[in-house]
Amino acid sequence: MSAGPTLELRGLGFRVGSRPLLEGIDLDLPAGRMTALTGSSGSGKTTLLSVAGGLLEPSEGTATLDGRPTWRGTGDPAPDIAFVLQVYGLVPILSARENVSVALRARGVAPREADARADAALAELHVADLGGRQVEELSGGQLQRVAIARALVVRAPVLLADEPTSELDPTTRGQVMALLRAEAERGAVVVVATHDPDVADACDEHHAMAEGRLLARGRRVAR
Ligand SMILES: Nc1ncnc2c1ncn2[C@@H]1O[C@H](COP(=O)(O)OP(=O)(O)OP(=O)(O)O)[C@@H](O)[C@H]1O
Ligand SMILES: [Mg+2]
Repeated sequence: MSAGPTLELRGLGFRVGSRPLLEGIDLDLPAGRMTALTGSSGSGKTTLLSVAGGLLEPSEGTATLDGRPTWRGTGDPAPDIAFVLQVYGLVPILSARENVSVALRARGVAPREADARADAALAELHVADLGGRQVEELSGGQLQRVAIARALVVRAPVLLADEPTSELDPTTRGQVMALLRAEAERGAVVVVATHDPDVADACDEHHAMAEGRLLARGRRVAR
């Protein structure tokens, strides 16, 4: 395993108007490990992933990868950060294959190779047969797997997954966790926001949030 850089959050805060949604977040998200982020609905998990990954500008503090801020001034994610968004972020009028392929094309991969790799990623998620289907014709769990395939296909140094298994049956959930584990083993930072205790238990580190803050101590699991 060749682990990449740690995603470092220092004094990170995010406010909307005067309302703090995140405050005083100090956290190292290490490469080669799976980190679970838990906390009740509205505790700030999605906001934390969004600020950490450069979709939102920090109001205070920094989020850096290899010393470089993840916020690049526009809200466009850096190519080295892949997201599984809670609302999937798929383009409805494109097929499942096109939605996955477009992540590669945006990173300079030629269309033919991008489509082939998209098909392989969909096959890893056991939805190869749905490649030609418009995403608006897919079920919730199928959509979620296409969104995961799109994040996995780019083999980014950082993978931020927001409740990636919420629509999945236990067998499929186990398959997805194995794929996320494989991402960590190839050296990626893997962060999973989840309400599922089994998913949190399958991670190496576990940090809980409440009201926009991290609770005092995360749990480290020796592996
Ligand atoms: N753009 C926004 N403007 C104002 N408030 C927001 C905005 N985005 C999120 N919030 C609020 O910030 C808080 C944290 O939301 P967030 O989506 O991060 O929670 P979460 O932990 O991901 O919840 P869930 O488990 O339901 O996904 C909530 O109170 C939410 O209503
Ligand atoms: Mg959320």
